[in-house]
Amino acid sequence: MTDVAIDPLDLALPERYGEHGFPHDTWTRLRAEDPVHWCEPEGYRPFWAVTRHADVKEISSHPERFSSRPRLTLTPKAVEDEMLAAFPDAADQGGMPLRMLVTMDPPEHREYRSLAGPYFRPRVIANLEARVEEITDLLFDRYAGEGVELDFVADFASWHPLKMLCEILGVATKDEGVILRLTNELFGAEDPEFGREDRWNLLPEMFNFFFQLIEEKRAEPGEDLASVLANAELNGEPLPHMELLSYFVLIATAGHDTTRNALSGGMAAFLEHPDQLAALRDDPSLARTAADEVVRWASPVIHFIRTATEDCVVGGKEIKAGDNLVLYYPSANRDETVWEDPFEFRIDRDPNPHLGFGVGEHYCLGAALAKMEIRVFLEHFAHRVTDVEAIGPLVNTHASFVGGLKHLPIRWTAT
Ligand code: HEM
Repeated sequence: MTDVAIDPLDLALPERYGEHGFPHDTWTRLRAEDPVHWCEPEGYRPFWAVTRHADVKEISSHPERFSSRPRLTLTPKAVEDEMLAAFPDAADQGGMPLRMLVTMDPPEHREYRSLAGPYFRPRVIANLEARVEEITDLLFDRYAGEGVELDFVADFASWHPLKMLCEILGVATKDEGVILRLTNELFGAEDPEFGREDRWNLLPEMFNFFFQLIEEKRAEPGEDLASVLANAELNGEPLPHMELLSYFVLIATAGHDTTRNALSGGMAAFLEHPDQLAALRDDPSLARTAADEVVRWASPVIHFIRTATEDCVVGGKEIKAGDNLVLYYPSANRDETVWEDPFEFRIDRDPNPHLGFGVGEHYCLGAALAKMEIRVFLEHFAHRVTDVEAIGPLVNTHASFVGGLKHLPIRWTAT
């Protein structure tokens, strides 16, 4: 085992991500010196930190050897033990009483994925573009004017993908704030601003909300995804209760917080790289490649875990059946063997083989939607904003799973 002296808590503890941002220096060292690195952070179960693009890709492409069960994300051992005690039936899911796509393996995973899959095809997503244009205009109109000050994350980026997602899911406009709060509480569970004292009540509250929605969509089905899922059948039977609720929880949370983090990470990148902002203004058609570069740069999903189903070798390391491998997407997206200049933000990269949406079996279902939303935002940004500057400190969410900025105070002039 190579001895590289890093503090493994830097890779796991949400507070560290809050205080210092993503640990890019540590990941860069690991990619160079020990790309599949054994970590034993205090309070967590040990794991292999997988930091190179090729290894993340290889592992993600072989779900039969690298299962999405039992655990999905880095969770303090004490919390996982409490969950296992509370939900012993969910032992093969790390004690998490959710049956989501991201915790399923084939063949079950493919059956479940095919239920929502057709809704996310690029052709179907293209039909949503006119509505995303309207939402984008609505938000820019709200903050139009000279020298307007806003917190880009809380005032703009949080609402942009949320509104479209709520329409897809058939959630009423009055309940958008509820979805936002519940998602912040889930992904920001360790953040002093978002985490709740009664964390055990979060899932029941979500279930309650979606249970009512499912009842409504069964009584009066519409064209939305919620209606498709609420009335879906597998092998002639309605979906089991937990699988159905979990589908809603996954899409309701994964479907906007990630994109919000991409938009705000992208804004921060443009503020840091005014030449790239100038390039976008000169040629707004660059918004298409810029959308991918924003996802590469921000990499809002920080990690997912896979568990080896058999003894194997990854990156020269002997992995034992049952070992956890933590795939660090932001690190894969700065891999020097894939990009000559990975720490440069360059909006014209094409191709851009980033892994921000994952790869293989669990490749992000909402990737086409997210890319379209980011592109539309950038096109409007290029046309409408003539001047933009940061006016306060950038603040990171305390999160090591899905993360990024939670505050980005800016001043802009927007027409
Ligand atoms: C910039 C925005 C987004 C990013 C960075 C992102 C990233 C990811 C990543 C890394 C995965 C896991 C891939 C893997 O394990 O190999 C994933 C899966 C998933 N994403 Fe996204 N996502 C984004 C937006 C969305 C949106 C808008 C939706 C839905 C409206 C969505 C729904 C899902 C679902 C349902 C899965 C599970 C797929 C499966 O397990 O088969 N995501 N996403």
